[in-house]
Amino acid sequence: MLGVGRNVGTVAPQGLVPAPGRAVSVRVRTSRAGDAPQIARLYFDTVRRVDARDCDPDRLAAWAPRVYDDGFWHRRRRRYEVYVAEVEGAVVGSAKLSPAGAIDCFYVHHAWQGRGVGRVLLRHLEARARGHGLHRLEADVSVAAELFFSRLGFKTEHRQTKIYHNRSFRQLVMQKRI
Ligand SMILES: CC(C)(COP(=O)(O)OP(=O)(O)OC[C@H]1O[C@@H](n2cnc3c(N)ncnc32)[C@H](O)[C@@H]1OP(=O)(O)O)[C@@H](O)C(=O)NCCC(=O)NCCS
Repeated sequence: MLGVGRNVGTVAPQGLVPAPGRAVSVRVRTSRAGDAPQIARLYFDTVRRVDARDCDPDRLAAWAPRVYDDGFWHRRRRRYEVYVAEVEGAVVGSAKLSPAGAIDCFYVHHAWQGRGVGRVLLRHLEARARGHGLHRLEADVSVAAELFFSRLGFKTEHRQTKIYHNRSFRQLVMQKRI
């Protein structure tokens, strides 16, 4: 799936420097085995930087304790559909979709946030889910991502505390009819 996001110019992963004001062409594709290192780095860097605003250092270290090895992401690819969003060949976003329509690990690289990448990625997941005959998407959403999901039509079903690596995390369970 191709889409166009906004670009105000920043340094991207792999050293790409898009010109300010130029439209960003976002391509979403199924992840490949070779994407694992980039997805791992994207997850670690983004959690450590963006979610640090809502999370104390102790919880943050439990959420993204290290750059997970490739095996961790390969196992996920076996159980879920994992998609990546690319700009000029660089992976700038990633998300996974379960067969039941649960979205997880939805991240856009911190340097690329606010440029429409997340919108294109989410639209792709919606199209895939519809293609599978699903009528509803659900996501366990971090506090940092609530407004994004709400903007894209998700409604909060309830709030919950999730235990991960022996630490508690505040989350929202959000759903959207598709
Ligand atoms: C949440 C996240 C995925 C959004 O991706 P993004 O590429 O920055 O989002 P987009 O630029 O496509 O934004 C789409 C819309 O959502 C809005 N939006 C995105 N983030 C927002 C925020 N934090 N607050 C308010 N609105 C927001 C945008 O304004 C835009 O609306 P508009 O087009 O009407 O202006 C990204 O910021 C992220 O990865 N955050 C940190 C990691 C995280 O917590 N992930 C979720 C785990 S559940």
